[in-house]
Amino acid sequence: MYQTKIAGLGKYVPENVVTNDDLSKLMDTNDEWITERTGIKERRHIKKGDGNTTATMGVKAAKVAIERSGISKDDIDLIVFATLSPDYYFPGCGVQVQEMLEIDTCPALDVRNQCSGFIYAVSVADQFIKTGMYNNVLVIGSENHSGGLDFTDRGRSVSVIFGDGAGAAVLTRSDHNGQGILSTHLHSEGKHALELSLKGPSTNYWVTEIIADNPQGEDIPYYPYMNGQFVFKNAIQRFSEVINEGLKENGLEVSDIDMLIPHQANLRISQFVQQKFKLADDQVYNNIQKYGNTTAASIPIALTEAWEEGKIKEGDIVVLAAFGSGFTWGSAIIKW
Ligand SMILES: CC(C)(COP(=O)(O)OP(=O)(O)OC[C@H]1O[C@@H](n2cnc3c(N)ncnc32)[C@H](O)[C@@H]1OP(=O)(O)O)[C@@H](O)C(=O)NCCC(=O)NCCS
Repeated sequence: MYQTKIAGLGKYVPENVVTNDDLSKLMDTNDEWITERTGIKERRHIKKGDGNTTATMGVKAAKVAIERSGISKDDIDLIVFATLSPDYYFPGCGVQVQEMLEIDTCPALDVRNQCSGFIYAVSVADQFIKTGMYNNVLVIGSENHSGGLDFTDRGRSVSVIFGDGAGAAVLTRSDHNGQGILSTHLHSEGKHALELSLKGPSTNYWVTEIIADNPQGEDIPYYPYMNGQFVFKNAIQRFSEVINEGLKENGLEVSDIDMLIPHQANLRISQFVQQKFKLADDQVYNNIQKYGNTTAASIPIALTEAWEEGKIKEGDIVVLAAFGSGFTWGSAIIKW
């Protein structure tokens, strides 16, 4: 069995900064409510005409990650693209990236696991590298949330949380045994699928039917629905479980964690997990204050920033953990 390491990281966020005060001009909300409930101060939104889409942002992040990895784009054996907001219903963003990066005919697949998408994608990449099938896998998480949120009072409990952006990682075969991804742990619980969901447009909810069934625009299934408190309760439980599962698998203690990078769902969720594990502030990386919840992009953006800021050093134990729609959750334990 081979081992996988992260050879390069990159991120891209749109230039357009949207503050809590900006949102309060569109809907009945305010900086105090958003800050207190979520920790978010601002997020980035794609601006019409700025050329950004889920796929193009993913490409921008990928180019940085590839450059830093030292490999050529032509050495990429597989692209795994995680998103809940693809440019098209089909095909997925993975093939768009392959075309935009001008990589000949490497396989490309999309992962649809929402906030856990990046960890699922890393796990998929890890399996291919471990078994020796591929040497280099490009993993991307990218989201265009702002194009599909309800920025009226009706959607305020959801739309203030989410932001746009992309992160990417090049995963390669590790030369040193014991360095790299030690293990990944994935879970899902489909019975809660609709507690955090976007029902349509889909094969169940075509646009024409939605309009016919909702002439007054009530109960619109083409905006995301979130049972916030239920999601919150499940998130704090599953984050803790899946971090413990990863530590146990590798014979590690909480005190071995050098850096925890939680999916940036909500600062209160991250703080709860930090307190539960009694981790110091410099052992947990948060940047939700600047970007909001960018779903599949949140971990690779945070990981990239933590690495750029010199907060991750060779030999560190880095723990990635996520929870989100599905419900899905997962963790990855990495020796840097
Ligand atoms: C969404 C969340 C912040 C809402 O916080 P909450 O404390 O549960 O708030 P509630 O939904 O109970 O709403 C409380 C009040 O604030 C109001 N409210 C909702 N959104 C608001 C907003 N953006 N601005 C101002 N008021 C708002 C509600 O209408 C409600 O008013 P009422 O008491 O008069 O009915 C919280 O549930 C949460 O963080 N959940 C987890 C979400 C998450 O992490 N999702 C991503 C998972 S990957």
